[in-house]
Amino acid sequence: MTRTLPAAAEIQAALDEAWRIGRDRCGDGRVADYIPELARVDPSLFGIAIHTVDGQCFSAGDADYRFTLQSASKVFSLSAVVADSGETVFEHMSVEPSGDAFFSIVKLEEEKGQPRNPYINAGAILTSSHLPGETADQKIRHFRTFLASASGMDRDAFPVSEAVYRSEADTGHRNRALAEIMRHHKVIPDVEVAVETYFRQCAVTCTAESLARTSLYLANGGKDPLTGKRLITPATNHGVVALMATSGMYDEVGSHAIEVGLPSKSSVSGAVLAVAPGRLTIAGFGPALGPMGNSIGAMKALGALAERLELSVYR
Ligand code: DON
Repeated sequence: MTRTLPAAAEIQAALDEAWRIGRDRCGDGRVADYIPELARVDPSLFGIAIHTVDGQCFSAGDADYRFTLQSASKVFSLSAVVADSGETVFEHMSVEPSGDAFFSIVKLEEEKGQPRNPYINAGAILTSSHLPGETADQKIRHFRTFLASASGMDRDAFPVSEAVYRSEADTGHRNRALAEIMRHHKVIPDVEVAVETYFRQCAVTCTAESLARTSLYLANGGKDPLTGKRLITPATNHGVVALMATSGMYDEVGSHAIEVGLPSKSSVSGAVLAVAPGRLTIAGFGPALGPMGNSIGAMKALGALAERLELSVYR
């Protein structure tokens, strides 16, 4: 399933140019502050990394800066859950865009505790509750083991930031409310286990380089092209990536599809992960966010890269 890749020198030149374009826009955004610990991050940080399915790695700027996965974790928790128990998580969740903010409670209440998709908070909390294990500790261990096997690294490459975890656990009242609604409708069995797991998975740390590397299976039909390890089936991978295209960028998913054209997943920590099927993965990191909660610099850089390297899946 490998598709033609541009020459290495052209990829690095395009990345350097995209990095400059993205970095120049960071001043237009603001860091997230509803999780107090995230407000301490320097908004001028900006890094970007590419991993290709044939094993090349490129980076620019702060690509080795460590940040928390936040919503980018949702792609991996979904992968880990479907790898373990198939599609059962979708018995109580649909696959449609929500049209609301990622933290919104409105549709969850109207739709009897059934989240719209796994990439809004409600859907991700439900997904976390399906991770194998009884306790949050066991579930997080499984989640980090999945990251380790996807990346060819070990679990220590993905430590949990205790400070960010604590900060969200102390302030994440709305996420607890989402979980309580799902508990009321018997969609999840235990609120505490679900939210504790979710807060910790969001606080798992990575770098743009390790995020791009970990995601490579998504660009290769569910199998890590470098180790040959199968993480999820091709059909499941298709679904996980398709959901990135429809719900990965929240209410900017339309403009992102037009300007970038790659299935992507953003996070409030400033990551945007993009998948060019059969070719490569890109992880941008710029904590300065635009009005929709997506990294301004990373989105601009991805647009420039996709155009110069002709990566859009809609071409
Ligand atoms: O639940 C939250 O609000 C955060 N832990 C994650 C949200 C997030 O990253 C949304 N992304 N744009």
